[in-house]
Amino acid sequence: MLIDRLAYGGDYNPEQWDDATIERDLELMQEAGVTVVSVGIFSWAFLEPEPGRYELGWLRSLVDRLHAAGIGVDLATATASPPPWLGRQYPETLPITREGHVLRWGSRQAYNPSSQVFRDKIAALVQTLANEFAHHPALVAWHINNEYACHVHESFDAETEGRFRAWLQAKYGSLAALNDGWGTAFWSQRLSAWDEVILPGLTPTYPNPGQVADYRQFCSDTLLELHLLEKEILHRANPDIPVTTNFLGLLESLDYWKWAKHVDFISNDSYPDPADPRGARSYAFEADLMRSLGGGKPFIQMEQAPNQVQWRERNAVKRPGQYALWSLQTVARGADGILNFQWRQSKAGAETWHSGMVPHAGSEARTWREVVGLGRQLTGAAAVLGGEIKADVALLLDWQNFWAQEAAVGPVEEKTALRGLRDWHASLFERGHVADFAHPEADLTGYRIIIVPSLFRLTEAAATRLREAVAAGAQVIVTFLSGWIDDAGHAVLGGYLRPIRDILGVRVLEMAPFSVVPYLPGTGEVLDPEIDRVSAAIVAPAAAPLVDLVDDFGAPWPGNAREGADDLAVDDERVQVVARFGGTDLAGRPAITMLPGARGSGAGWYVATNLDSRGRDTLLARVLDSAGIVEPGLPAGVSRTKRGPVTFWLNHTDEPVIVRGVTGRRCDTGESLAAAEMVLPARTAVLIED
Ligand code: GAL
Repeated sequence: MLIDRLAYGGDYNPEQWDDATIERDLELMQEAGVTVVSVGIFSWAFLEPEPGRYELGWLRSLVDRLHAAGIGVDLATATASPPPWLGRQYPETLPITREGHVLRWGSRQAYNPSSQVFRDKIAALVQTLANEFAHHPALVAWHINNEYACHVHESFDAETEGRFRAWLQAKYGSLAALNDGWGTAFWSQRLSAWDEVILPGLTPTYPNPGQVADYRQFCSDTLLELHLLEKEILHRANPDIPVTTNFLGLLESLDYWKWAKHVDFISNDSYPDPADPRGARSYAFEADLMRSLGGGKPFIQMEQAPNQVQWRERNAVKRPGQYALWSLQTVARGADGILNFQWRQSKAGAETWHSGMVPHAGSEARTWREVVGLGRQLTGAAAVLGGEIKADVALLLDWQNFWAQEAAVGPVEEKTALRGLRDWHASLFERGHVADFAHPEADLTGYRIIIVPSLFRLTEAAATRLREAVAAGAQVIVTFLSGWIDDAGHAVLGGYLRPIRDILGVRVLEMAPFSVVPYLPGTGEVLDPEIDRVSAAIVAPAAAPLVDLVDDFGAPWPGNAREGADDLAVDDERVQVVARFGGTDLAGRPAITMLPGARGSGAGWYVATNLDSRGRDTLLARVLDSAGIVEPGLPAGVSRTKRGPVTFWLNHTDEPVIVRGVTGRRCDTGESLAAAEMVLPARTAVLIED
């Protein structure tokens, strides 16, 4: 964004308000320290009331007024919510579900990403906006569309099918290559003409996994085409104005690594549930992800709720202080701005009961006081602007891996990689560490620890990167369900993990799931040994929810195995066994192994199960120690993050906490502290500048 302060503000939807309210809004924005608002996100119907007739005067006057009030404008391209006339006059622009239902206007995001008519219409609208505003002095950024794929990311229609075929032709080059890639030699699926290639619609049973995985990438790429179409128009009009589109955390349907290359800065929308004590953790996860998507550069928190949302079954409020505390945690992890949805709470429509920075009750409400309070804290934290953060730990993340694992029919239903990323990030968060995310094929040699949660699809290039990282001294932790398929999406033969056996020293011969809910049609009766003379004598350990772990002497190892246990082949005699399975048919077999790197201090750790939180924490403590990383060792509920010259002290608890050895200048009061004790009030962030 083109501003020299931390951004603070929110979505501003003034179409809902009269002139006097807008005038009051400008005063209130100044009172709250607002520096930027996002305007026009849902304005298409007002900007183009009928096809080809544009009315931009109202927007021009609003942008002028914001500018006069010293507030920057993140101007949306308004393409996220087509007006009713578009769907009525051009039904081909409406998306069709897998079941064949048309999604009609009356909500939002009702567009078919493949529709050429839709593409032509947005191009014309965006060009019109660019002509009018590209050189307006208020403009600090362009906000393309809004939350692509939040509601709709696909359409099952002929136009999309045609684009899917063309996409596959470009990827495979020939039908023979496609047949080979998808493994159509099985189940008589051999395709003999391109016209036989169809979208993965409704099928009698499992669709082809290769087709489904490709389709997911195609959907992400198709939406990216829409983004690029708009971006090119905007950049042509004025290349100096940065563009963004707001991401949605770890959204499964868009390959954000690919998208991130096509925005000038990363922005994100984040809505953790305040009813869940894991809310701060979840915010931290998204902040770390966004910073990483931007290659370590600052990002903008484009949306969050000033207080409660309206779309959960029951919508918890943020507790007093949490709004600022969580926002500043996001700044600590790399945000250069905090924006909310939305500035003024709506008085009608679908989001009437979603909080706004200006609540229905006005400035008497707690929300408003907290909004003003955060504005002040952000003003005081100016020194953080542009500051970068260096993480020692990276978690490997790849959308193609998610899609390949989800498209696979077995070996387990759970989204292991997605969940593994959250679990391992949580373990780092709880110990007070910031982590980066990285693509498995990126250069990893700067990291001291690399965690690879369930990288089911392990490419040759990723194997090379991991090898380089261990050679450079990194501790690499690979977890179960990694290395099952190769670049082509085909099963790895000769033992899973084979491509990285040299750094781990082990391969997986078989995986035995447990926590299995037995599939026994027609019987719920408990077995009675006196009657069920055969069945009651059969032991079925697969149903056990957990399996304990032991050390080499058979003593309990802290933590349990969940979901499955690999039967490992140990190929290298230097492999050290850290923990073994206690129960199951694999009792005594290795559950966690470590192979020291050939040179330097690196090592390859393998976790042959899904560890519970205690198990992850135990292992992490050991690996952090091996990597020589100093642990923060802070009181429970307190975290500390350094960004640029500013140290963020966060107290998440309900009690004041005393911390010691704090030196520097308090950003809020200006007071100088020298090795003093500092009291962190309950649910508060205190910022100290060096
Ligand atoms: C986002 C969306 C906003 C608003 C918000 C409410 O998904 O971009 O427009 O609807 O949710 O939480």
